[in-house]
Amino acid sequence: MDDTTPLAAQLAEDARRRIELTGQKFPPPLQTRVFTVANQKGGVGKTTTSVNLAAALAQSGLRVLVIDNDPQGNASTALGIEHHAGVPSTYDVLINDMPLEEVIQESDAIPGLYCAPATIDLSGAEIELVSLVARENRLRNALAAYLKGRSRRGEPRIDYVFVDCPPSLGLLTVNAFVTAREVIIPIQCEYYALEGLSQLLNNINLIRSHLNPALHVSTILLTMYDARTNLAQQVAEEVREHFPDQTLRTAIPRSVRISEAPSYGQTVLTYDGGSTGALAYLEAAREIAQRGLQPLEDYAYAGSHHSAGVTTEGDQG
Ligand SMILES: Nc1ncnc2c1ncn2[C@@H]1O[C@H](COP(=O)(O)OP(=O)(O)OP(=O)(O)O)[C@@H](O)[C@H]1O
Ligand SMILES: [Mg+2]
Repeated sequence: MDDTTPLAAQLAEDARRRIELTGQKFPPPLQTRVFTVANQKGGVGKTTTSVNLAAALAQSGLRVLVIDNDPQGNASTALGIEHHAGVPSTYDVLINDMPLEEVIQESDAIPGLYCAPATIDLSGAEIELVSLVARENRLRNALAAYLKGRSRRGEPRIDYVFVDCPPSLGLLTVNAFVTAREVIIPIQCEYYALEGLSQLLNNINLIRSHLNPALHVSTILLTMYDARTNLAQQVAEEVREHFPDQTLRTAIPRSVRISEAPSYGQTVLTYDGGSTGALAYLEAAREIAQRGLQPLEDYAYAGSHHSAGVTTEGDQG
């Protein structure tokens, strides 16, 4: 192929990555890794990142659970999981003590991919949680019971859990932070991208000192990256400068296929598995899987003396 034009070069590059990535088995983590996907800024790609990373890891043979913890229910929609009013959901787990296994549904499209759906009920949970005992620990306790139950019943281990959060720092997000060890922050490569980030990091620090000492920002993912604009490049550079160890090498490009997939109840991995967007999420998932191979103590509690106050994976030196 003549790869002298940008389009042809892109196609050639995609073909190379497709051959390299499709059908690859990612290594399972040493133990279940639980991620919260958070950014109080709206529309930065939290849900897109949750469902597509989950799909990529599940497609490579791992067992993955997405907990939809956002009343918008976008993750449930994108995974093609039923979530109309009345369907047992994350709300019942948080408020009615329903066991997680009673709400979890498996994806039709990708075996090994599970989802705890969110229904509109969840929009009331933020207020209802306030008066409940152990209101910050409810999701954590439910997940721990579920994972323990699976192991007791001799069911295979869940390798990855992703909790998709709403664009706010309320009790739903606090529950997610208490549940996870790792935070993924998607950052949209646009003006104002870094605004609000220090507030997010402060909140994570507060949660770490009071509720969950293991919590740390392990991963930052640049989303909706458009390599043709100077602005996107500047934002990417700045993020990499601040978070050299956490920022994945792979940036997710702006892609029409990625934005179309949810309206078909699909992730981009099944909607158009060979597209640039699908390949980017596969590559990001592979990076995450490979980073997870270090022993837990190497990254879980590392860096608690970091001067910037951000506990990060890279601090172990
Ligand atoms: N890489 C991408 N290319 C093109 N469109 C994208 C990309 N990533 C996300 N989008 C689109 O941008 C919009 C916002 O993405 P998404 O819903 O994932 O963000 P979010 O952070 O979960 O939003 P919210 O804060 O409302 O929960 C969606 O319409 C989604 O389809
Ligand atoms: Mg969302």
